[in-house]
Amino acid sequence: MKDTFRALKISENVYWVGAIDWGLRNFHGYLTSRGSTYNAFLILADKVTLVDTVKEPFFDEMMARIRSVIEPDRIDYVISNHSEMDHSGALPKTIAAVRPEKVFASSMGIKALSSHFHWDQEITKLSTGDTLDLGGANLRFIEARMLHWPDSMFTFYDEEGILFSNDAFGMHLASSERFADELDETVLRYEAAKYYANILLHLSPLIERLIDKLPGFNLNLKMIAPDHGPLWRQDPETIIGWYSEWAAQKPTSKAVVVYDTMWQSTAKMARAVADGIISRGVQVKLLPMEGSHRSDVITEVLDAGALVVGSPTMNNQLYPTVADVLTYIKGLRPRGLVGAAFGSYGWSGEAVGHIENALAEMKVELACESVKALYVPENDVLARCVELGEKVASALGAKL
Ligand code: FEO
Repeated sequence: MKDTFRALKISENVYWVGAIDWGLRNFHGYLTSRGSTYNAFLILADKVTLVDTVKEPFFDEMMARIRSVIEPDRIDYVISNHSEMDHSGALPKTIAAVRPEKVFASSMGIKALSSHFHWDQEITKLSTGDTLDLGGANLRFIEARMLHWPDSMFTFYDEEGILFSNDAFGMHLASSERFADELDETVLRYEAAKYYANILLHLSPLIERLIDKLPGFNLNLKMIAPDHGPLWRQDPETIIGWYSEWAAQKPTSKAVVVYDTMWQSTAKMARAVADGIISRGVQVKLLPMEGSHRSDVITEVLDAGALVVGSPTMNNQLYPTVADVLTYIKGLRPRGLVGAAFGSYGWSGEAVGHIENALAEMKVELACESVKALYVPENDVLARCVELGEKVASALGAKL
């Protein structure tokens, strides 16, 4: 059989043998507009080692890439850095095809893999500080709990200075290029920020701690090879620096106004709020949920200092799209925001109260009283919306 997919040599002894998912548009609720990759790596040493696998439908593609370098049954070890299905989905088939001498994972990984596959596969436990001599290549392991799941682990290849970081330092970006230095930096920063905001934001305190601890491992870091998106072979510190910046969540002079509307009343209010914010020299991103995805909203919130939310009342509740985005933002736990609520209603008007409660749960500091409009806002109500925007901008300015 002639193989179609080929491996890419990324260093003296390591090949990229992953898969490119050009068509992925939904990664558990996150709009992945540019697709993704599932990176897996083959280390050639006395003990040939596969680091991670791919999402199950891409098993054949990964095996073809491996076969372009060596016969897959020559793989001795398989390391599973993370049990989420985008990396472990092809693991059972890989083990069946390769029959490796050993499979390795963290202690949490062993449990999680067992709960996924309900198998009796023997897996050797790895903990932080453990080493593995492949014969000509030495690996070290760092548990990276909650980056992105409790089982997540980094594998470091000492001689070549490659950190196989799994989800951390990744992005959902399908491309023909495998290295970050071959891609446009604006796209890289946007997609890395979107990935951070949607996957890792709520883990920021852990990320700060991990980044602080990294120098203590004395890694001779030359390349960061995450499991999604491009590999960082030039200045791997760039992506670490971006992560430090996002993890710190320092507010900037930018406000996000997110809303939806039933009969354009809340939309008019939103535009007035935005005008008030702009009048105080603060940048605004106005995001109508009719045309915005929740994952783009949280990406804008990542570097914002204010979050203002508007909703009409519908059946005594929030408008469904606003409820969706608030639930999503709340789970990702942005910190240090000021904000406010507004909305229109016909007879009961509970939506604004629901927004206030959600903002309180997110520890958003309310800059002023909410504004409500009965049916259609008149000029006096719109003037109060402008004032709300001004107060949000002033409260934000006081924090910068
Ligand atoms: Fe890429 Fe947490 O999986």
